[in-house]
Amino acid sequence: MDTFIRSLPKAELHLHIEGTLEPEMLFDLARRNGLASSYGSVAELRAAYDFSDLQSFLDIYYEGASVLRTEEDFFDLTWAYLNRAAADGVRRAEIFFDPQTHTERGVSIETVINGIGGALDRSHELGMSTGLILCFLRHLSGKQALETLEMALPHRDRLLGVGLDSSEAGRPPELFRAAYDLARQEGLHLVAHAGEEGPPEYVWQALDVLGVERIDHGVRSIEDPVLVDRLVADQIPLTMCPLSNLKLKVVDDLNHHPLAQLQDSGVLVTVNSDDPAYFGGYVGDNYVAISAGLDLRQSETAQLARNSLTASFIFDDDPLFAEFDRVAGDQKI
Ligand code: HPA
Ligand code: ZN
Repeated sequence: MDTFIRSLPKAELHLHIEGTLEPEMLFDLARRNGLASSYGSVAELRAAYDFSDLQSFLDIYYEGASVLRTEEDFFDLTWAYLNRAAADGVRRAEIFFDPQTHTERGVSIETVINGIGGALDRSHELGMSTGLILCFLRHLSGKQALETLEMALPHRDRLLGVGLDSSEAGRPPELFRAAYDLARQEGLHLVAHAGEEGPPEYVWQALDVLGVERIDHGVRSIEDPVLVDRLVADQIPLTMCPLSNLKLKVVDDLNHHPLAQLQDSGVLVTVNSDDPAYFGGYVGDNYVAISAGLDLRQSETAQLARNSLTASFIFDDDPLFAEFDRVAGDQKI
């Protein structure tokens, strides 16, 4: 199963580059930048990755990101992720980054974008294409989101789209309407996290107020049948992240993950890794875990990989679709 899953060409659509910072690299970068760490060892740090909810994770994730200082740091982080993703059969990666996490502590947006972008420029060496999605931090204000996008616009050609992440509870999507309006005017793709911890109402707002093309997570959509009908009717993809949901206690158990019921209802569901350094697995591990948890047939697992290409922002005539069909055909799926 493992080899089969990794052999399928796939897209990763929900991946925070800051969430790929492995403890080993965190210590290396802290040393390189002359920073003290609050943890004594890699093992001690890994032991702290025991979360009770989204906020308990975010506190550690933002602290971890503080070792990223130079363009080289962002390059190394991104290049390490791309190599891991390529090994899992990822041929297209649409990657999130959180500029405010860095600009708030005095790292310039140029440093961040040039570092990540420099690695993405080389993704073709690994047989991949990539895009960069700027996420607004929803625990900060709508005005700060707008200012962040304005600050990034000199680098417009580096961006594929915008997204919305961080603490969801009590932070409805409508707060970010102005930033999304500007992003739309700029011709950027629009996505947003919604329905991870927040209610189905936030998924509706992301669709109807922000006008997003994909929903990141969307787990709680299952609570609203009319919303499920809408996701099916408009073929709005959900970028789901099973190991993340388990680690952050969004679901109790992968046997009960709503992905199966959503897929059976006709929703375009996809599998992704979210913050793999913190949640115990890259995208291939997420496919393996959800396929085992939901007892999926090989053809259903393959459909998830095919969905990831459909849900990505590549064009309909991209050669990846034909390549997928060839690989799946060779395996008699
Ligand atoms: N949810 C919200 N914000 C995030 C996440 C997530 O899963 N990962 C990184 N930032
Ligand atoms: Zn996420």
